[in-house]
Amino acid sequence: MEYLLGVDIGTSGCKSILIDSTGKVAGSTLKEYSLYTPRTGWSEQTPADWWTAVTGGIAELLNKTGVSAGRIRGMGLSGQMHGLVPLDKYDEVIRPAILWNDQRTTEQCGIILKKAGGLSGLLKLTNNQMLPGYTAGKLLWLRANEPENYEKMTHFLNPKDYIRMRLTGERATEVSDASGTGLFDVEHRTWSVKLLSLLDISLSLLPSCHESAEITGRITRETAELTGLPEGLPVAGGGGDAVIQTTGMGLIRSGVLGTIIGTSGIAAMGLNGYYPNPEGLLQVFCNNTPSTWHVMGVTLNAGGAYRWFRDALGGIEKREDVYALMDRAAKGVPPGSQGLIFLPYLTGERCPYTDPAARGAFIGLGLHHGKPEFTRSILEGVVFGLKDVYALIHSMYDSVTEIRTSGGGSLSPLWRQIQADVFQSPVITVSGSGEGGAYGAALVAGAGAGVWSSVDDAIGVLKKETETIPNPGNKNIYEDMYNIYHSLYGVLKPVYRDLSMLENG
Ligand code: XUL
Repeated sequence: MEYLLGVDIGTSGCKSILIDSTGKVAGSTLKEYSLYTPRTGWSEQTPADWWTAVTGGIAELLNKTGVSAGRIRGMGLSGQMHGLVPLDKYDEVIRPAILWNDQRTTEQCGIILKKAGGLSGLLKLTNNQMLPGYTAGKLLWLRANEPENYEKMTHFLNPKDYIRMRLTGERATEVSDASGTGLFDVEHRTWSVKLLSLLDISLSLLPSCHESAEITGRITRETAELTGLPEGLPVAGGGGDAVIQTTGMGLIRSGVLGTIIGTSGIAAMGLNGYYPNPEGLLQVFCNNTPSTWHVMGVTLNAGGAYRWFRDALGGIEKREDVYALMDRAAKGVPPGSQGLIFLPYLTGERCPYTDPAARGAFIGLGLHHGKPEFTRSILEGVVFGLKDVYALIHSMYDSVTEIRTSGGGSLSPLWRQIQADVFQSPVITVSGSGEGGAYGAALVAGAGAGVWSSVDDAIGVLKKETETIPNPGNKNIYEDMYNIYHSLYGVLKPVYRDLSMLENG
Protein backbone atom coordinates (compact mmCIF):
# COMPACT_ATOMS: atom_id res chain seq x y z
CA MET A 1 0.00 0.00 0.00
CA GLU A 2 1.19 3.55 -0.78
CA TYR A 3 0.52 6.48 1.56
CA LEU A 4 0.25 10.26 1.32
CA LEU A 5 0.79 12.81 4.04
CA GLY A 6 -1.36 15.94 4.39
CA VAL A 7 -0.57 18.66 6.91
CA ASP A 8 -2.84 21.61 7.69
CA ILE A 9 -1.52 24.62 9.58
CA GLY A 10 -4.80 25.86 11.05
CA THR A 11 -5.52 28.79 13.35
CA SER A 12 -5.89 26.75 16.51
CA GLY A 13 -3.64 23.82 15.68
CA CYS A 14 -1.85 21.68 13.14
CA LYS A 15 -3.49 18.54 11.82
CA SER A 16 -1.42 15.83 10.13
CA ILE A 17 -3.02 12.85 8.37
CA LEU A 18 -1.88 9.85 6.41
CA ILE A 19 -4.19 8.41 3.74
CA ASP A 20 -3.72 5.37 1.57
CA SER A 21 -4.20 5.21 -2.17
CA THR A 22 -7.86 4.20 -1.77
CA GLY A 23 -8.42 7.48 0.08
CA LYS A 24 -8.81 5.79 3.46
CA VAL A 25 -7.43 7.67 6.48
CA ALA A 26 -4.75 5.60 8.23
CA GLY A 27 -4.44 8.00 11.16
CA SER A 28 -4.19 11.62 12.23
CA THR A 29 -2.70 13.85 14.92
CA LEU A 30 -3.60 17.32 16.14
CA LYS A 31 -1.16 19.65 17.89
CA GLU A 32 -2.45 22.93 19.23
CA TYR A 33 -0.74 26.32 19.64
CA SER A 34 -1.59 29.76 20.98
CA LEU A 35 -3.01 32.82 19.30
CA TYR A 36 -2.05 36.25 20.62
CA THR A 37 -4.12 39.44 20.56
CA PRO A 38 -1.65 42.12 21.70
CA ARG A 39 -4.28 44.79 20.93
CA THR A 40 -8.01 44.73 20.22
CA GLY A 41 -8.52 43.55 16.66
CA TRP A 42 -4.97 42.20 16.30
CA SER A 43 -4.35 38.50 15.77
CA GLU A 44 -0.83 37.04 15.75
CA GLN A 45 1.01 33.75 16.06
CA THR A 46 4.61 32.63 16.47
CA PRO A 47 5.71 30.69 13.34
CA ALA A 48 8.16 28.66 15.46
CA ASP A 49 5.10 27.23 17.27
CA TRP A 50 3.70 26.00 13.94
CA TRP A 51 7.03 24.32 13.20
CA THR A 52 7.11 22.56 16.56
CA ALA A 53 3.53 21.38 16.00
CA VAL A 54 4.24 20.18 12.44
CA THR A 55 7.39 18.20 13.27
CA GLY A 56 5.95 16.81 16.52
CA GLY A 57 2.66 15.91 14.83
CA ILE A 58 4.32 14.09 11.92
CA ALA A 59 6.68 12.13 14.19
CA GLU A 60 3.76 11.07 16.39
CA LEU A 61 1.66 10.14 13.35
CA LEU A 62 4.34 7.85 11.94
CA ASN A 63 4.76 6.24 15.32
CA LYS A 64 1.08 5.81 15.97
CA THR A 65 0.12 4.38 12.58
CA GLY A 66 3.21 2.22 12.21
CA VAL A 67 3.27 3.17 8.50
CA SER A 68 6.85 2.76 7.35
CA ALA A 69 8.29 6.01 6.02
CA GLY A 70 9.38 4.30 2.80
CA ARG A 71 5.75 3.75 1.80
CA ILE A 72 4.92 7.47 1.85
CA ARG A 73 4.95 8.78 -1.70
CA GLY A 74 4.38 12.50 -1.15
CA MET A 75 3.36 15.29 1.16
CA GLY A 76 0.97 18.22 0.70
CA LEU A 77 0.41 21.39 2.73
CA SER A 78 -2.75 23.27 3.60
CA GLY A 79 -2.88 26.36 5.79
CA GLN A 80 -4.74 29.33 7.13
CA MET A 81 -4.71 31.85 4.29
CA HIS A 82 -3.68 35.52 4.00
CA GLY A 83 -1.20 35.57 6.94
CA LEU A 84 2.05 37.54 6.71
CA VAL A 85 5.32 35.91 7.81
CA PRO A 86 8.11 38.48 7.20
CA LEU A 87 11.62 37.05 6.78
CA ASP A 88 15.06 38.69 6.90
CA LYS A 89 18.03 37.89 4.66
CA TYR A 90 18.84 34.84 6.81
CA ASP A 91 15.25 33.59 6.40
CA GLU A 92 14.66 34.30 10.08
CA VAL A 93 11.18 35.50 11.14
CA ILE A 94 11.31 39.26 11.86
CA ARG A 95 8.16 39.68 13.95
CA PRO A 96 5.15 37.50 14.87
CA ALA A 97 2.95 36.47 11.94
CA ILE A 98 -0.09 38.70 11.34
CA LEU A 99 -3.07 36.42 10.70
CA TRP A 100 -6.09 36.28 8.37
CA ASN A 101 -8.50 37.43 11.11
CA ASP A 102 -6.48 40.49 12.10
CA GLN A 103 -8.39 43.75 11.67
CA ARG A 104 -5.62 46.37 11.71
CA THR A 105 -5.47 47.19 8.00
CA THR A 106 -8.65 49.19 7.29
CA GLU A 107 -6.65 52.33 6.43
CA GLN A 108 -4.20 50.42 4.23
CA CYS A 109 -7.03 48.70 2.32
CA GLY A 110 -8.40 52.17 1.51
CA ILE A 111 -4.98 53.26 0.23
CA ILE A 112 -4.67 50.16 -1.95
CA LEU A 113 -8.12 50.70 -3.46
CA LYS A 114 -7.24 54.30 -4.27
CA LYS A 115 -3.88 53.42 -5.85
CA ALA A 116 -5.51 50.68 -7.93
CA GLY A 117 -8.04 53.16 -9.35
CA GLY A 118 -10.97 52.24 -7.12
CA LEU A 119 -12.81 48.93 -6.87
CA SER A 120 -13.22 48.54 -10.62
CA GLY A 121 -9.48 49.13 -11.13
CA LEU A 122 -8.60 46.60 -8.45
CA LEU A 123 -11.03 44.00 -9.82
CA LYS A 124 -9.37 44.32 -13.24
CA LEU A 125 -6.01 43.51 -11.65
CA THR A 126 -6.87 40.80 -9.11
CA ASN A 127 -10.60 40.02 -9.56
CA ASN A 128 -11.04 40.46 -5.81
CA GLN A 129 -12.01 43.10 -3.30
CA MET A 130 -9.25 44.11 -0.84
CA LEU A 131 -10.46 42.46 2.36
CA PRO A 132 -8.78 43.59 5.60
CA GLY A 133 -7.52 40.03 6.20
CA TYR A 134 -5.52 39.84 2.94
CA THR A 135 -1.72 39.95 2.98
CA ALA A 136 -1.37 43.13 0.89
CA GLY A 137 -2.82 45.45 3.57
CA LYS A 138 -0.51 43.88 6.16
CA LEU A 139 2.54 44.71 4.05
CA LEU A 140 1.50 48.37 3.84
CA TRP A 141 0.77 48.38 7.55
CA LEU A 142 4.25 47.05 8.28
CA ARG A 143 5.84 49.67 6.03
CA ALA A 144 3.92 52.51 7.73
CA ASN A 145 4.08 51.33 11.35
CA GLU A 146 7.23 49.25 11.69
CA PRO A 147 9.52 50.69 8.98
CA GLU A 148 12.61 49.10 10.55
CA ASN A 149 11.00 45.67 10.16
CA TYR A 150 9.89 46.42 6.59
CA GLU A 151 13.44 47.49 5.77
CA LYS A 152 14.83 44.24 7.15
CA MET A 153 12.33 42.12 5.16
CA THR A 154 13.85 40.42 2.12
CA HIS A 155 10.96 37.95 1.64
CA PHE A 156 7.53 37.21 3.01
CA LEU A 157 5.48 34.02 3.01
CA ASN A 158 2.00 32.80 3.92
CA PRO A 159 1.84 30.40 6.91
CA LYS A 160 1.93 27.05 5.08
CA ASP A 161 4.71 28.32 2.81
CA TYR A 162 6.82 29.24 5.82
CA ILE A 163 6.48 25.59 6.88
CA ARG A 164 7.39 24.50 3.33
CA MET A 165 10.58 26.55 3.59
CA ARG A 166 11.49 24.87 6.87
CA LEU A 167 10.66 21.42 5.45
CA THR A 168 12.42 21.76 2.10
CA GLY A 169 14.55 24.90 2.12
CA GLU A 170 12.46 26.35 -0.75
CA ARG A 171 10.59 29.65 -0.72
CA ALA A 172 7.55 28.84 -2.84
CA THR A 173 3.78 29.16 -2.88
CA GLU A 174 0.95 27.96 -5.12
CA VAL A 175 -1.92 29.65 -6.93
CA SER A 176 -4.72 29.24 -4.35
CA ASP A 177 -2.90 30.85 -1.41
CA ALA A 178 -1.33 33.43 -3.74
CA SER A 179 -4.88 34.44 -4.79
CA GLY A 180 -5.58 35.35 -1.14
CA THR A 181 -2.65 37.75 -0.84
CA GLY A 182 -4.63 40.34 -2.83
CA LEU A 183 -1.54 40.79 -5.04
CA PHE A 184 -2.29 38.00 -7.52
CA ASP A 185 -3.60 38.24 -11.06
CA VAL A 186 -6.14 35.45 -10.55
CA GLU A 187 -7.15 35.39 -14.23
CA HIS A 188 -3.61 34.75 -15.50
CA ARG A 189 -2.45 32.77 -12.45
CA THR A 190 0.60 34.94 -11.83
CA TRP A 191 1.65 37.83 -9.52
CA SER A 192 0.11 41.16 -10.53
CA VAL A 193 3.25 43.03 -11.48
CA LYS A 194 1.09 46.07 -12.19
CA LEU A 195 -0.46 46.19 -8.71
CA LEU A 196 2.92 45.52 -7.09
CA SER A 197 4.37 48.46 -8.95
CA LEU A 198 1.40 50.75 -8.05
CA LEU A 199 1.95 49.83 -4.40
CA ASP A 200 5.73 50.08 -4.70
CA ILE A 201 6.21 46.51 -3.45
CA SER A 202 9.23 44.77 -4.94
CA LEU A 203 8.53 41.52 -6.80
CA SER A 204 11.72 40.16 -5.22
CA LEU A 205 9.91 39.97 -1.84
CA LEU A 206 7.50 37.35 -3.22
CA PRO A 207 8.05 33.59 -3.48
CA SER A 208 7.92 31.65 -6.75
CA CYS A 209 4.37 30.54 -7.55
CA HIS A 210 3.34 27.08 -8.78
CA GLU A 211 0.22 25.09 -9.60
CA SER A 212 -1.02 23.33 -6.46
CA ALA A 213 -0.06 19.75 -7.43
CA GLU A 214 3.40 20.71 -8.65
CA ILE A 215 6.32 19.43 -6.59
CA THR A 216 7.86 22.50 -4.95
CA GLY A 217 10.69 20.90 -3.01
CA ARG A 218 11.88 17.83 -1.13
CA ILE A 219 12.25 16.97 2.54
CA THR A 220 15.73 17.93 3.73
CA ARG A 221 17.99 15.66 5.75
CA GLU A 222 17.46 17.84 8.84
CA THR A 223 13.65 17.56 8.57
CA ALA A 224 13.96 13.82 7.94
CA GLU A 225 15.91 13.44 11.18
CA LEU A 226 13.39 15.49 13.13
CA THR A 227 10.27 13.77 11.82
CA GLY A 228 11.16 10.32 10.58
CA LEU A 229 10.07 11.20 7.02
CA PRO A 230 12.32 9.98 4.20
CA GLU A 231 14.87 12.51 2.97
CA GLY A 232 13.94 13.65 -0.54
CA LEU A 233 10.16 13.06 -0.10
CA PRO A 234 8.42 15.33 -2.63
CA VAL A 235 6.32 18.18 -1.20
CA ALA A 236 3.51 19.40 -3.46
CA GLY A 237 2.29 23.01 -3.56
CA GLY A 238 -0.93 22.18 -1.66
CA GLY A 239 -3.39 24.99 -1.07
CA GLY A 240 -4.94 27.68 1.09
CA ASP A 241 -7.25 25.93 3.55
CA ALA A 242 -10.51 27.51 2.37
CA VAL A 243 -9.79 26.24 -1.16
CA ILE A 244 -8.12 22.90 -0.56
CA GLN A 245 -10.70 21.69 1.96
CA THR A 246 -13.30 22.07 -0.79
CA THR A 247 -11.00 20.10 -3.09
CA GLY A 248 -11.06 17.41 -0.39
CA MET A 249 -14.86 17.46 -0.72
CA GLY A 250 -14.57 16.98 -4.50
CA LEU A 251 -15.37 20.57 -5.51
CA ILE A 252 -13.06 21.02 -8.45
CA ARG A 253 -15.52 21.71 -11.21
CA SER A 254 -18.76 23.70 -11.54
CA GLY A 255 -22.09 22.32 -10.39
CA VAL A 256 -21.40 21.06 -6.87
CA LEU A 257 -21.93 23.57 -4.07
CA GLY A 258 -20.00 22.97 -0.87
CA THR A 259 -20.95 24.30 2.52
CA ILE A 260 -18.56 24.15 5.42
CA ILE A 261 -19.81 24.82 8.94
CA GLY A 262 -16.77 25.36 11.13
CA THR A 263 -16.32 28.35 13.43
CA SER A 264 -17.04 30.39 10.30
CA GLY A 265 -19.18 29.22 7.39
CA ILE A 266 -18.19 28.86 3.75
CA ALA A 267 -20.31 28.35 0.66
CA ALA A 268 -18.11 27.54 -2.31
CA MET A 269 -18.03 26.03 -5.78
CA GLY A 270 -15.35 24.98 -8.27
CA LEU A 271 -15.45 26.82 -11.60
CA ASN A 272 -14.58 25.21 -14.92
CA GLY A 273 -13.24 28.50 -16.20
CA TYR A 274 -12.33 32.02 -15.19
CA TYR A 275 -15.25 34.29 -14.35
CA PRO A 276 -15.22 37.95 -13.32
CA ASN A 277 -16.32 38.84 -9.78
CA PRO A 278 -18.79 41.71 -10.25
CA GLU A 279 -18.56 44.24 -7.39
CA GLY A 280 -16.09 41.93 -5.63
CA LEU A 281 -18.83 40.48 -3.46
CA LEU A 282 -17.37 36.98 -3.50
CA GLN A 283 -13.82 35.63 -3.38
CA VAL A 284 -12.76 34.21 -6.75
CA PHE A 285 -9.46 32.35 -6.40
CA CYS A 286 -7.44 29.88 -8.45
CA ASN A 287 -8.42 26.30 -7.71
CA ASN A 288 -6.06 23.41 -7.02
CA THR A 289 -5.87 22.07 -10.54
CA PRO A 290 -4.80 24.01 -13.66
CA SER A 291 -7.49 25.86 -15.63
CA THR A 292 -10.04 25.70 -12.81
CA TRP A 293 -11.06 28.42 -10.39
CA HIS A 294 -12.90 28.54 -7.07
CA VAL A 295 -15.63 30.91 -5.91
CA MET A 296 -16.62 31.31 -2.28
CA GLY A 297 -18.17 33.56 0.30
CA VAL A 298 -17.21 33.34 3.95
CA THR A 299 -19.72 34.09 6.72
CA LEU A 300 -17.86 34.83 9.93
CA ASN A 301 -20.15 33.16 12.49
CA ALA A 302 -21.50 29.66 11.88
CA GLY A 303 -20.51 26.92 14.35
CA GLY A 304 -19.04 29.80 16.35
CA ALA A 305 -22.55 31.25 16.85
CA TYR A 306 -23.83 27.93 18.17
CA ARG A 307 -20.84 27.68 20.50
CA TRP A 308 -21.38 31.28 21.66
CA PHE A 309 -24.97 30.40 22.58
CA ARG A 310 -23.88 27.37 24.56
CA ASP A 311 -21.14 29.25 26.41
CA ALA A 312 -23.02 32.48 27.05
CA LEU A 313 -26.50 31.22 27.75
CA GLY A 314 -26.23 27.46 28.26
CA GLY A 315 -26.58 25.71 31.61
CA ILE A 316 -26.70 21.93 31.41
CA GLU A 317 -25.57 22.27 27.77
CA LYS A 318 -22.06 23.11 28.97
CA ARG A 319 -21.62 19.47 29.98
CA GLU A 320 -20.37 16.84 27.62
CA ASP A 321 -22.13 16.03 24.37
CA VAL A 322 -23.59 19.50 24.40
CA TYR A 323 -24.28 19.71 20.74
CA ALA A 324 -26.31 16.50 20.72
CA LEU A 325 -28.29 17.88 23.64
CA MET A 326 -28.96 21.16 21.92
CA ASP A 327 -29.90 19.38 18.69
CA ARG A 328 -32.40 17.26 20.61
CA ALA A 329 -33.99 20.33 22.16
CA ALA A 330 -34.15 22.14 18.82
CA LYS A 331 -35.64 19.11 17.04
CA GLY A 332 -38.89 19.46 18.97
CA VAL A 333 -39.37 22.97 17.57
CA PRO A 334 -41.11 23.21 14.19
CA PRO A 335 -39.21 24.63 11.17
CA GLY A 336 -39.27 28.42 11.35
CA SER A 337 -38.66 28.42 15.15
CA GLN A 338 -42.16 29.77 15.84
CA GLY A 339 -41.37 33.02 14.08
CA LEU A 340 -37.95 33.64 15.67
CA ILE A 341 -35.13 34.73 13.35
CA PHE A 342 -31.44 34.82 14.28
CA LEU A 343 -28.93 37.05 12.50
CA PRO A 344 -25.48 35.53 13.03
CA TYR A 345 -23.28 38.64 12.60
CA LEU A 346 -21.77 38.35 16.10
CA THR A 347 -18.31 39.50 14.99
CA GLY A 348 -19.38 41.54 11.97
CA GLU A 349 -19.76 39.97 8.52
CA ARG A 350 -17.63 39.36 5.44
CA CYS A 351 -20.11 38.01 2.87
CA PRO A 352 -22.57 38.91 1.41
CA TYR A 353 -22.02 42.18 3.31
CA THR A 354 -18.52 43.32 4.24
CA ASP A 355 -19.39 45.09 7.48
CA PRO A 356 -17.29 44.85 10.65
CA ALA A 357 -19.99 46.85 12.51
CA ALA A 358 -22.80 44.32 11.86
CA ARG A 359 -23.97 42.44 14.97
CA GLY A 360 -26.13 39.47 15.88
CA ALA A 361 -29.83 39.78 16.63
CA PHE A 362 -32.90 37.75 17.49
CA ILE A 363 -35.93 39.18 15.70
CA GLY A 364 -39.55 38.34 16.45
CA LEU A 365 -38.95 37.37 20.07
CA GLY A 366 -42.14 36.60 22.02
CA LEU A 367 -43.23 35.13 25.33
CA HIS A 368 -43.77 31.78 23.64
CA HIS A 369 -40.04 31.43 22.85
CA GLY A 370 -37.67 29.48 25.08
CA LYS A 371 -34.26 27.93 24.80
CA PRO A 372 -35.28 25.30 22.20
CA GLU A 373 -36.55 28.03 19.83
CA PHE A 374 -33.36 30.07 20.34
CA THR A 375 -31.33 26.99 19.54
CA ARG A 376 -33.22 26.12 16.39
CA SER A 377 -33.27 29.71 15.17
CA ILE A 378 -29.45 29.81 15.46
CA LEU A 379 -29.15 26.66 13.33
CA GLU A 380 -31.57 28.15 10.80
CA GLY A 381 -29.98 31.64 10.83
CA VAL A 382 -26.56 30.18 10.03
CA VAL A 383 -28.01 28.28 7.06
CA PHE A 384 -29.85 31.42 5.87
CA GLY A 385 -26.47 33.19 5.94
CA LEU A 386 -25.03 30.42 3.75
CA LYS A 387 -28.05 30.71 1.46
CA ASP A 388 -27.26 34.43 1.04
CA VAL A 389 -23.83 33.43 -0.28
CA TYR A 390 -25.30 30.60 -2.35
CA ALA A 391 -27.75 33.06 -3.93
CA LEU A 392 -24.83 35.22 -5.09
CA ILE A 393 -22.93 32.22 -6.46
CA HIS A 394 -26.06 30.97 -8.18
CA SER A 395 -26.88 34.31 -9.76
CA MET A 396 -23.37 34.91 -11.12
CA TYR A 397 -22.03 31.49 -11.97
CA ASP A 398 -23.12 28.03 -13.07
CA SER A 399 -26.13 26.38 -11.53
CA VAL A 400 -25.84 23.88 -8.75
CA THR A 401 -26.93 20.27 -9.05
CA GLU A 402 -25.67 18.92 -5.74
CA ILE A 403 -24.79 20.20 -2.26
CA ARG A 404 -22.00 18.68 -0.18
CA THR A 405 -21.32 19.69 3.38
CA SER A 406 -18.45 19.32 5.83
CA GLY A 407 -17.01 20.84 9.00
CA GLY A 408 -18.10 20.26 12.60
CA GLY A 409 -21.66 21.42 11.82
CA SER A 410 -22.09 18.67 9.22
CA LEU A 411 -21.95 16.08 12.02
CA SER A 412 -25.38 17.20 13.26
CA PRO A 413 -28.19 15.33 11.40
CA LEU A 414 -30.60 18.14 12.34
CA TRP A 415 -28.34 20.84 10.86
CA ARG A 416 -27.97 18.73 7.68
CA GLN A 417 -31.78 18.43 7.47
CA ILE A 418 -32.18 22.19 7.90
CA GLN A 419 -29.68 22.70 5.06
CA ALA A 420 -31.56 20.23 2.84
CA ASP A 421 -34.89 21.94 3.61
CA VAL A 422 -33.62 25.51 3.20
CA PHE A 423 -31.78 24.71 -0.06
CA GLN A 424 -34.46 22.18 -1.13
CA SER A 425 -31.69 19.94 -2.39
CA PRO A 426 -30.18 16.66 -1.20
CA VAL A 427 -27.24 17.35 1.10
CA ILE A 428 -24.38 14.87 0.91
CA THR A 429 -21.33 14.18 3.04
CA VAL A 430 -18.35 12.38 1.52
CA SER A 431 -15.53 10.36 3.04
CA GLY A 432 -12.47 12.28 4.19
CA SER A 433 -14.04 15.73 4.20
CA GLY A 434 -14.31 15.65 8.00
CA GLU A 435 -10.52 15.87 8.04
CA GLY A 436 -10.56 19.41 6.61
CA GLY A 437 -7.67 20.89 4.62
CA ALA A 438 -5.22 18.11 5.51
CA TYR A 439 -7.25 15.60 3.46
CA GLY A 440 -7.33 17.82 0.38
CA ALA A 441 -3.60 18.40 0.79
CA ALA A 442 -2.97 14.64 0.82
CA LEU A 443 -5.07 14.19 -2.37
CA VAL A 444 -3.24 17.03 -4.15
CA ALA A 445 0.10 15.54 -3.03
CA GLY A 446 -0.98 12.21 -4.53
CA ALA A 447 -1.71 13.91 -7.85
CA GLY A 448 1.72 15.60 -7.71
CA ALA A 449 3.57 12.41 -6.82
CA GLY A 450 1.89 10.37 -9.56
CA VAL A 451 -0.30 8.16 -7.33
CA TRP A 452 -3.21 9.66 -9.27
CA SER A 453 -2.90 11.16 -12.72
CA SER A 454 -4.52 14.47 -11.71
CA VAL A 455 -6.50 16.13 -8.93
CA ASP A 456 -9.68 15.24 -10.86
CA ASP A 457 -8.56 11.61 -10.74
CA ALA A 458 -7.67 11.89 -7.03
CA ILE A 459 -11.16 13.02 -6.00
CA GLY A 460 -12.49 9.85 -7.60
CA VAL A 461 -11.63 8.08 -4.32
CA LEU A 462 -14.29 10.05 -2.39
CA LYS A 463 -17.25 7.98 -1.29
CA LYS A 464 -20.72 9.18 -0.33
CA GLU A 465 -21.24 8.77 3.43
CA THR A 466 -24.65 10.32 4.14
CA GLU A 467 -27.43 11.80 2.03
CA THR A 468 -30.14 13.97 3.58
CA ILE A 469 -33.27 14.35 1.47
CA PRO A 470 -35.22 17.64 1.60
CA ASN A 471 -38.71 17.65 3.04
CA PRO A 472 -40.89 19.43 0.45
CA GLY A 473 -43.40 20.19 3.23
CA ASN A 474 -40.88 22.64 4.75
CA LYS A 475 -40.19 24.51 1.51
CA ASN A 476 -42.69 27.34 1.98
CA ILE A 477 -41.98 28.17 5.60
CA TYR A 478 -38.24 28.31 4.91
CA GLU A 479 -38.68 30.44 1.80
CA ASP A 480 -40.81 32.90 3.78
CA MET A 481 -38.43 32.99 6.74
CA TYR A 482 -35.40 33.38 4.45
CA ASN A 483 -37.00 36.30 2.62
CA ILE A 484 -37.58 38.10 5.94
CA TYR A 485 -34.05 37.20 7.10
CA HIS A 486 -32.62 38.57 3.87
CA SER A 487 -34.40 41.91 4.29
CA LEU A 488 -33.16 42.47 7.84
CA TYR A 489 -29.55 43.52 7.27
CA GLY A 490 -30.64 46.53 5.19
CA VAL A 491 -33.13 47.53 7.88
CA LEU A 492 -30.59 47.23 10.71
CA LYS A 493 -27.57 48.71 8.94
CA PRO A 494 -28.11 52.26 10.30
CA VAL A 495 -28.60 50.82 13.79
CA TYR A 496 -25.31 48.92 13.52
CA ARG A 497 -23.56 52.12 12.43
CA ASP A 498 -24.97 54.09 15.41
CA LEU A 499 -24.07 51.33 17.84
CA SER A 500 -20.52 51.10 16.55
CA MET A 501 -20.12 54.89 16.91
CA LEU A 502 -21.23 54.57 20.53
CA GLU A 503 -18.86 51.63 21.06
CA ASN A 504 -15.92 53.55 19.62
CA GLY A 505 -16.74 56.70 21.60
C1 XUL B 1 -10.45 32.38 3.76
C2 XUL B 1 -10.22 32.69 5.19
C3 XUL B 1 -10.17 31.61 6.19
C4 XUL B 1 -8.74 31.40 6.59
C5 XUL B 1 -8.64 30.70 7.92
O1 XUL B 1 -10.54 33.50 2.98
O2 XUL B 1 -10.05 33.83 5.58
O3 XUL B 1 -10.76 30.45 5.76
O4 XUL B 1 -8.06 30.80 5.56
O5 XUL B 1 -8.64 29.40 7.96
